[in-house]
Amino acid sequence: MRFVEANGARIPAIGLGTWELRERACARVVEQALKLGYRHIDTAQVYENEREVGDGLRASGVKRDDIFLTTKIWTTHFAPHDLERSAKESLVRLRMSEVDLLLLHWPNPHVPLAETLGALAHAKRQGLTRHIGVSNFTVALIEEAVALCPEPLVCNQVEFHPYLDQSKVKAACARHGMALVAYSPVAKGRIKTDGTLMRIGRAHHKTPAQICLRWLVQQNVSAIPRTSKIERLSENIDIFDFSLTDEEMREISLLHSPTGRLTDFAFAPKWD
Ligand SMILES: NC(=O)c1ccc[n+]([C@@H]2O[C@H](COP(=O)([O-])OP(=O)(O)OC[C@H]3O[C@@H](n4cnc5c(N)ncnc54)[C@H](OP(=O)(O)O)[C@@H]3O)[C@@H](O)[C@H]2O)c1
Repeated sequence: MRFVEANGARIPAIGLGTWELRERACARVVEQALKLGYRHIDTAQVYENEREVGDGLRASGVKRDDIFLTTKIWTTHFAPHDLERSAKESLVRLRMSEVDLLLLHWPNPHVPLAETLGALAHAKRQGLTRHIGVSNFTVALIEEAVALCPEPLVCNQVEFHPYLDQSKVKAACARHGMALVAYSPVAKGRIKTDGTLMRIGRAHHKTPAQICLRWLVQQNVSAIPRTSKIERLSENIDIFDFSLTDEEMREISLLHSPTGRLTDFAFAPKWD
């Protein structure tokens, strides 16, 4: 496993996304992932599966200290006291004394960012989390957050895959020593039939998903693909025994387009 180093955090380059994984199936996938060598699990309050993620972690038998666990505070809990209370509720559901990374899930323009970041930093100082970060922040918001936050931010988790150009966000993260954590890293499965990824895959005896994930990791990005299928768990982590050439990296980088974003903003909070 490779790691992405970011402001004191060591984030495993591949993690397991858990959005839409629910109940016993969620616990089972988390347990299997850890047994197969995953050491990074991504959940969120809004996924309503923190309890099952915690169950999967314990069932795996992997030592808690060896696992990098992220959860995210939903935007309705961004007022300082709410943030602290909801972070503690997440820990109760997870049955953990701390997480490794606590993120603000989306920006919320209705609560002053300084207050929310102050509360997030306080959660870290209280020992509720080892590291803090943000998600779905634009370049302008990253700059604002870095200037306002009393503790270092270790990442911005954003949508990133070959169909979406994130070079500006990536550069902003790098400027501040933050990692970019890529969500929807296999473009929700759309990479499966991509001609370019299939062709490059044939040269390396790898699948399009493996080529796509390798392309992300080779840019010092951490990626959190989700799968409900045990066989794909092994596929998505088996990317550390080959390298893409500079030409292959460049070719994949050219696949982006202005319509490449997949995030359904209906899922994002509504502000009015
Ligand atoms: N911070 C945020 O706002 C935010 C937003 C979205 C997601 N996330 C996080 O990022 C994680 C990943 O993003 P995502 O779930 O949107 O998308 P994703 O990981 O890009 O795609 C998941 C989809 O791809 C399929 N898939 C997985 N591995 C595959 C492979 N090797 N070959 C072919 N298809 C494959 C899965 O199907 P099967 O289940 O059938 O394998 C599933 O339908 C989430 O689970 C969540 O933890 C965060």
